[in-house]
Amino acid sequence: MQTAVVTGASSGLGREFVNQIYKKEKLDSIWVIARRENRLQEIAEKYRGIIRPIPLDLTKEESFSSLKAALEEEKPDIRILVNDAGFGKIGNYNQIYGQVNDDMIDLNCKALVKMTLLCLPYMQKGARILEISSSSAFQPLPAMNMYASTKAFVLSYSRGLRWELFERGIHVTAVCPYWIKDTEFIPISKDTANGNAVKHFLLASTAATVAKRALWFSKYNFPVATTGVVSFIQRLSAKIIPRELLSALWQVIRQL
Ligand SMILES: NC(=O)c1ccc[n+]([C@@H]2O[C@H](COP(=O)([O-])OP(=O)(O)OC[C@H]3O[C@@H](n4cnc5c(N)ncnc54)[C@H](OP(=O)(O)O)[C@@H]3O)[C@@H](O)[C@H]2O)c1
Repeated sequence: MQTAVVTGASSGLGREFVNQIYKKEKLDSIWVIARRENRLQEIAEKYRGIIRPIPLDLTKEESFSSLKAALEEEKPDIRILVNDAGFGKIGNYNQIYGQVNDDMIDLNCKALVKMTLLCLPYMQKGARILEISSSSAFQPLPAMNMYASTKAFVLSYSRGLRWELFERGIHVTAVCPYWIKDTEFIPISKDTANGNAVKHFLLASTAATVAKRALWFSKYNFPVATTGVVSFIQRLSAKIIPRELLSALWQVIRQL
């Protein structure tokens, strides 16, 4: 069965990936993963017969055992893996710490790696992996430091993995969007003791645009997908402008 696996499918960008993969890729099945089962069931009802809802908390070790068992049983031919599940939190080191930090690292980094390694044995030449990073991966981001650091890991991991998979002919693309306005990410990020440390989200994109462009970049095997003008400028600036200056600029911009 030609299959796509999408984590973070219950909302926002992940859900949009499911919509667009369903419409464009004509696969036999799409495995959708997130914690909220009711949301996954809604998608299953919308695209009847194609969707396999798999409610899992990807910060929990046991989730990967049950996924491994499902993969061993079904032996799907995974054509597309989208590692989208992730979250951020706004605040400094003394506001964002403990369990929330652990969860951010576990979901944004560890779960993404575990999902990738679990799915790889079921992927063949021409299969595509989209690792959802962020334009925050291009530079340090005080007041969202842990989040940006996890996404820098994703970017670096994806770029290296791409070369390790070169001989197998599997595409790996790190997707690096700037803010996306129509998902749950911004409200969840701001829901902290110091959520106003980032005051605005100007020029934010939409999930539909980001998913469409990311799938295009992955199809043509780009290593990094900057899915809009702002993320492209941010990527370029990080190559030209010294990091300390970029961080200082961000400290001003976020408080305007
Ligand atoms: N929105 C932005 O501005 C922006 C910009 C750059 C990059 N990104 C990245 O884009 C990705 C998608 O974010 P989004 O904007 O679409 O936000 P979102 O609407 O909050 O989606 C996050 C998804 O992750 C899932 N998730 C959260 N915790 C999970 C857990 N423990 N186990 C399994 N699934 C979990 C959520 O589902 P459940 O709650 O049902 O588990 C949800 O489906 C993230 O990796 C984010 O870092 C977002």
